Amino acid sequence: MMGFGTADYQTRIYDMQLESRINPLGTDCLHPRFAWKLRSERSKVKQTAYRIIVGLDDHVSEMNLWDSGKVYSDQSVFVTYQGQALQSRTRYYWRVKVWDEREEESEWSESSWWEMGLLHESDWCAQWIEPPQEKASEERLLPSPLLRHEFEIKEPLKRARIYATAHGVYALELNGHKVGDQELAPEFTSYEYALQYQTYDVTELLRAGSNALGAVLGDGWYVGRIGLTGDCCCYGDKLALLLQLEIETVSGDRLVIGSDERFCCSFGEIQYSDLFIGEMVDARLREEGWSRPHFEAVDWQPARIVSFGYANLMAQYAEPIRAVEMIRPVRLIQSPRGEAIIDMGQNIAGKVRFRAAGKAGTRVTLEHGEVLDEEGNFFNNIIGVHKDQKDIFILRGGAEAEYEPRFTYHGFRYVKVTGYPGTIRLEDFTGVVLASDLRRSGSFECSDKRINQLQSNIAWSQRSNMVSIPTDCPQREKAGWLGDIQAFAPTACFNMDSYAFLSGWMRNVRLEQLEDGQVPSVVPFSNGFKKFLKGIYGPSSAGWGDAVIIVPWVLYQQYGDTQVLRDNYEAMTKWIDYIRSEAADDLWTPSGLHFGDWLIPSLSMSSDGERVDMRRSAYLTRELVSTCFYAYSAQLLAEIATVLGITDDAVRYAQLGCKVRQAFSRQHLQNDGRLTAHFQGIYVLALHMNMVPDSLRDKVLEHLIKLIEENGWRLDTGFVSVPYLLDVLCGNGRPDVAYRLLFQTECPSWLYQVGKGATTIWEAWQAILPDGKVTNVSFNHYAFGCVGDWLYRCIAGISQLEAGYKHIRIAPYVESGFSYAKASYESVFGTIRSAWERNGSTIRLSIEIPANTTATVCLPSGEQIVGSGLYEFEYEA
Ligand code: BGC
Repeated sequence: MMGFGTADYQTRIYDMQLESRINPLGTDCLHPRFAWKLRSERSKVKQTAYRIIVGLDDHVSEMNLWDSGKVYSDQSVFVTYQGQALQSRTRYYWRVKVWDEREEESEWSESSWWEMGLLHESDWCAQWIEPPQEKASEERLLPSPLLRHEFEIKEPLKRARIYATAHGVYALELNGHKVGDQELAPEFTSYEYALQYQTYDVTELLRAGSNALGAVLGDGWYVGRIGLTGDCCCYGDKLALLLQLEIETVSGDRLVIGSDERFCCSFGEIQYSDLFIGEMVDARLREEGWSRPHFEAVDWQPARIVSFGYANLMAQYAEPIRAVEMIRPVRLIQSPRGEAIIDMGQNIAGKVRFRAAGKAGTRVTLEHGEVLDEEGNFFNNIIGVHKDQKDIFILRGGAEAEYEPRFTYHGFRYVKVTGYPGTIRLEDFTGVVLASDLRRSGSFECSDKRINQLQSNIAWSQRSNMVSIPTDCPQREKAGWLGDIQAFAPTACFNMDSYAFLSGWMRNVRLEQLEDGQVPSVVPFSNGFKKFLKGIYGPSSAGWGDAVIIVPWVLYQQYGDTQVLRDNYEAMTKWIDYIRSEAADDLWTPSGLHFGDWLIPSLSMSSDGERVDMRRSAYLTRELVSTCFYAYSAQLLAEIATVLGITDDAVRYAQLGCKVRQAFSRQHLQNDGRLTAHFQGIYVLALHMNMVPDSLRDKVLEHLIKLIEENGWRLDTGFVSVPYLLDVLCGNGRPDVAYRLLFQTECPSWLYQVGKGATTIWEAWQAILPDGKVTNVSFNHYAFGCVGDWLYRCIAGISQLEAGYKHIRIAPYVESGFSYAKASYESVFGTIRSAWERNGSTIRLSIEIPANTTATVCLPSGEQIVGSGLYEFEYEA
């Protein structure tokens, strides 16, 4: 082992974050937490003290609003601001310095800032306004209203902000320029209780003299057709806007322009916009110059003031949806049916931008699909009401122009183009990838290209399904199913910094919790889903509702934040209380159907690809799945209570967990280790969740291995068990079987999908059957991509011994069959890297451990504890 580094021995500070965001504009967090990272060429760097200063100016000498003083602590993440109460609209600057293990004081960091949004209802003088419009309804798609307002600014300005939100979605323009780079604002939340507003710095877009402000509204989640059922008007049947422009001039005057009846309204080019059906644009109706001053707003109608109030408003809590990547199509296909199909080469969530020149009135249609059929024709793999995914553009005529839908997005790889004037040239088409703009935090690579493709597929499914909320799929439902994110959260946190995104979404989960403690299976819990689940399933389900415990627990482990546990603690206890009220004799026999180990491949599809009753997995496994999750959640809650220092609860929930386990064994376990539901996933859950006594573990494991063997060494696990499958095998002495499953190429398996050309993770293992038959399921569901977490933890060997990777464990599985594997993970303390390669029987392991942490490196010779730095080890496998 050797330490590196000679050059720069100083300790420097970088990557300063507030509530896990960099320089957030418009937050309403009253007790924000700071985080920073330390960098040095030295090894074994530790922080022994810190000092934070906060001010209204970014010069050190002026930063006297709050001074933490020198605090002797190694804490460098989630350090709470403790100065005077934060004020609406104010920008605060902060710096930090640290003392390291040599007691050496660092320089002050660069300054970072955050800016508060509008904290009190009384800060809003703008009024909610509605343009004249028809009521939306299931049958009729309505045009997108335009709203505009002209105003004068008398003198040069110093700063200007817009605070805005809408019922529906909105986009703003000032003096003909787009405002901000977010898409589909205000995004999707549990609108009855929480509606985000966005803050924009528009100083550069305004000028002394005449100015004009424009807003376009679209149906979005509020009014449009959403979810599995495609119900419309789930939150209301009319679009509305709330907007406040605040201007400060150089002489210190404040001018506030709020939406009111002086805003006038008309319609423009968007004939309709729907997140699922698609958008229709008639470019001939474009109102040139409508958001510029001196536009003649002939026939425009005044807006109407409506009183929705401000009680549910909240600031945007995570990075917004943006166009995060532009994709160049890879080929143009002439299908056997004669269709012109553009292949993006990658399944994405997003939309298409294209250029065209054609006669006025030419109608170009884009249809979006994820796969081609067996013959290579366009295939609509999404069935259901309003799942068109079709955009229509009526060209304006004249010179070549660019077209792009504004208020919709689709899940697609293939685009069928009809009516395009002239020759289709790939360079005129671009795939615009939309996603919540989360920072990438992880990468994994190994010597097997197929596994690298799998990792890529997982990352793409994550991007496609982290669009405002964690969704199941970007085409059929775009819905916040809890079971999916519960399974995928650990992988999600490796790949991308998901802290603000998931902890913010959890607020919606808490708000939607039912009186009796049930946690709805999907959040936001729109009317459509309420109706749908009311029938056979019931509003909550084991493995879905448990996300209220599992997701915060994952966030705590990954980022080391206890606040997320505290925030959700009450909701967690209510969920367990609800289960207790349903459980007789400590067995949870649910009254609703529950999803069980959803989508067990042998149960959910027949061999000819026809969907059999998808509910079979549920019928056959739900009772065991429910009781397993009951015990598991009780146990996790006991651990959470311990972290929070609520000792009585810790004891109580741990005892509850034990009782439930005993009841499970009594009811479901036979003396030979066989379980009453004889499926792979049930054995996996029983082993992972410690549902069987130690004396029978080996026998239970034997049944699992036998089932896998009988299935030709192929998995047969559903949504809630697959996250633990490989861990259970490795943890119980059968890594050989885990590797066999990982490298399996026959259906069902991860590499089967890769072999069939998947570029994202499929909803069902056999979405394309071995004979090539393409089925009507989603090709972009991240749930089964939960194996990504295992690749990072086990193959590359990066895991943790103390929450937030304060103490890291490096223990790669070098016998896994790869000749090399490497991963990096940007933890809250900095970059953790583990890379190993095999040369004959010699293993060379290189690792990087960030400052202010330690790591236990597991080697055949024993464990070594190291501090921060770069290290190399060589050993015989
Ligand atoms: C979704 C899933 C979800 C499930 C509930 C499906 O329609 O796409 O991913 O978790 O319903 O079982």
